[in-house]
This record gives sequence, C-alpha cells and structure tokens, in this order.
Amino acid sequence: MNILILGGGGREHALAWAIQQNPKCDRLIVAPGNAGIAEIAECATLDIEDGSAVAGFAEENAIGFVVIGPEAPLAAGVADDLRASGIAVFGPDGAAARLETSKAFTKQVCDARGVPTAAWARFDAPAPAREYIRAHGAPIVVKADGLAAGKGVIVAMDTDTALAAIDDMFAGEFGTAGAAVVIEEFMHGEEASFFVLCDGENVLPIGTAQDHKRVGEGDTGPNTGGMGAYSPAPVMTDAVVERAMAQIIRPTVAELAKRGTPYRGVLYAGLMIRDGQPRLVEYNVRFGDPECQVLMMRLGAQALDLLLACAEGRLGDARVNWADDHAMTVVMAARGYPGPYRKGTEIRGLEALSEDSSHMVFHAGTRVVDGTITANGGRVLNVTARGASLQEARDSAYEMLARIDWPEGFYRRDIGWRAL
Ligand code: AMP
Ligand code: GLY
Repeated sequence: MNILILGGGGREHALAWAIQQNPKCDRLIVAPGNAGIAEIAECATLDIEDGSAVAGFAEENAIGFVVIGPEAPLAAGVADDLRASGIAVFGPDGAAARLETSKAFTKQVCDARGVPTAAWARFDAPAPAREYIRAHGAPIVVKADGLAAGKGVIVAMDTDTALAAIDDMFAGEFGTAGAAVVIEEFMHGEEASFFVLCDGENVLPIGTAQDHKRVGEGDTGPNTGGMGAYSPAPVMTDAVVERAMAQIIRPTVAELAKRGTPYRGVLYAGLMIRDGQPRLVEYNVRFGDPECQVLMMRLGAQALDLLLACAEGRLGDARVNWADDHAMTVVMAARGYPGPYRKGTEIRGLEALSEDSSHMVFHAGTRVVDGTITANGGRVLNVTARGASLQEARDSAYEMLARIDWPEGFYRRDIGWRAL
C-alpha cells in the first residue's frame, strides 16, 4: 500500500520511521517532510491545508492511506475531503477536531456528560471577564478560545496577571483565537498525557507520556512546544487509566457520536491527576510532539496496523503488543528558542550515531544545504532511546546527545527528573 503522511516535524519523522518498517507499506511519501524524513521516505511539496489538493495528489500517486500529523490540516477539514473522495485517512473531520480548535466546545461536551474538568466560563467581552476574575481570585487560568499554536494559555498565580491577560487577548494578541476567552479554575496535581485511538465507536489506549514544557532545567523559564518526553508516565497507573477511560474518554467519544460528528483518529487527553483522580485539562486531536516520538519508538511497525484499524473502523478487534519497555526523547533546540534564534547553522556528528529500533534521532526542523544538515527551526532534533527501564532509556539518549556536534544548539539535562 502507498502511504502519504502530512507534516514535517519530529512527530512525522517518528510516524514515518514506524510505518515504513511495516511490510504493508510500499511507497511512503511525506509532505513536506524534512532532512531526516528524506533519508527514509520521499518528500513532496504540497499545500497540506488544501483538502482538494491533498485528495488530488493522493489519487495521482495511488495513495491508499493518508496519515495527518498536525492540527492545522485537521482544522481545515482535510480529513473530510479525503473521506469524501473515498481515501482511507487517519485523523478526525473538522467538526470533531473542534475538541482542539475550541476550548469552549470541549467544555460543553464535558458538561453534557459530567466529565471531570476545571470549572469554567466563556466571555466575548472584557468587562464581565474581569468581573469573573475579581470574584474568583487567583490562581486562575485564562485561555484564548481558539487555536493559538499552544501559546494562548496564561496560568495566572495572581489577579493582576489574569487581568492583564484579558486585556492582551481582547486587544488581539492571539488574533481571532482570542476573540473569545475561557476562564478556568486552576487545577492542582501532576500532568500526564493519555493517547487513545478512536474509530468513531471503539476506543483503544495506545500509551501514556509526560513532557517538559518549560525551556529551563527544573521546569523553569518560558513555555515551549516541549523540551522532552518519556513514556510510560508513572502517574498513569492501571487504576488511573481505567478511571480516565470510564469518566473522560468514553463519555467524550459517546457524546461526539451522538452529535453526529463521530471522533476518528487519535485523541490526546491532557490530564491533571490528584490523589489518583484524573481530570481533563484539554484535548488535542493529533499526536503530541515530542510525545509521538516516544510512543512510536515503543510501538514500532505495529503502529501502521493500529492506525489502519482506526481508519477502517476495526479497532474492536485490534490489540497492542506491549513490550515492557520505556522510552525517552530529548529535544535539541537552537540557542534562543523559544525566543529569536538563528537558522542555517551546521549540525555534525549525526552520521556516526548508530540508529536502530532502540536509538533514533528524529528530525524536527532540519534542512540539507550543500550536502550538510543544517538547523531550520527552533526545536531541531529529538534524540530518542528505548530501554528496559526509564533510567536505561535516559542514559542511552544522553550518550547520543553527547556525540552530536552542534555548538549553536542546547538541550535540557534533566528530562524525566520527576520520574527518576
Ligand atoms: P493547554 O494548552 O490547555 O494544555 O494549557 C497549557 C498548559 O497550561 C497545560 O499543560 C497546563 O500545564 C496548564 N493548564 C491549563 N489549564 C489548566 C488548569 N485549569 N489548571 C492548571 N493548569 C492548567
Ligand atoms: N507537546 C505538546 C503538544 O504536542 O501539544
């Protein structure tokens, strides 16, 4: 079968790496891809947010299955167009993708089924929002309602910060995403990510992870897209997973089916766990990046069978073969990230690393210039390893990192510290 993956980050490199190991995969094309992906698949230029362009490309290239990596094409309804053209696709329709594109939509779905989550209110004008903040006090969380590339959330530890966030959002800091604002109760606890495949009806858990969002060691400094991740998340015990399935995932999937917009794809639940009780922080409608990298390293080639079963409504019969393993990924970023950083600096030493089913450098933002690999983004490499224990996975990942020669890059040395 010929397969097309949409996206060009570390998440898509990991998806491509797992998928091309499966004998069912004949030709693999990734659009747009990156320098690492180009070593294992064909890269193509394509407007991945244009559904009819993607469907046309898929037909021309006899593509039997499309895997959508990032949220933007999902929000743009690319999965709808592919399904309408009769092409098997992994990823939800635009209507179901609202679980990520509108925080208020998610809250309404939760309320309809009593899903445990933070108390909330939605405002489309600043005055009542300010009043609500004064009445509830801090800590409190202010969120732009729409997609804001992971930046539209202000966790305010004092009232002034929350009030300032209201002013910024209604002044257009997050564009149309901030035209409406959701204000939430601050939840205490430990965060973890839970990944579940849904085929509209059946649900299949495929792993847990924890990431580090802050740029600095000890989880300090500004927020990023994620500086590292590991799987499984120790806080996601069997009992917590069971509660999350019964109280959060199944009710959400049932509510979307009832509304006539069944959820098909991976549902990524951000959870806050306190005293063994999970509550929903947010949903994403795609794999996390870099969480996908550790999930794919643990699943390997079976990932394709699972994604296909999901797309074809066969999850009821699907099973995950778990090895009792652990994986960690450490992000190498360009100095300055998440602020301004340089592009085009040369990365050396990658060829000398031996890559296998337990050691991989996934490329997040790279480009080949005159035969050398150069940095082409903020988060640039995801150095990923697997082991019998988290400590073993960590040690392997950091051994690889020490051999990468990229003076303009940096990484956190404490990924996994909470779990270790
Ligand atoms: P989100 O984009 O909704 O996941 O929010 C980004 C981050 O803000 C989350 O990963 C949490 O660390 C934090 N956060 C969001 N909502 C809450 C909440 N209600 N209580 C505590 N922390 C939150
Ligand atoms: N690593 C967080 C995300 O993908 O949203």
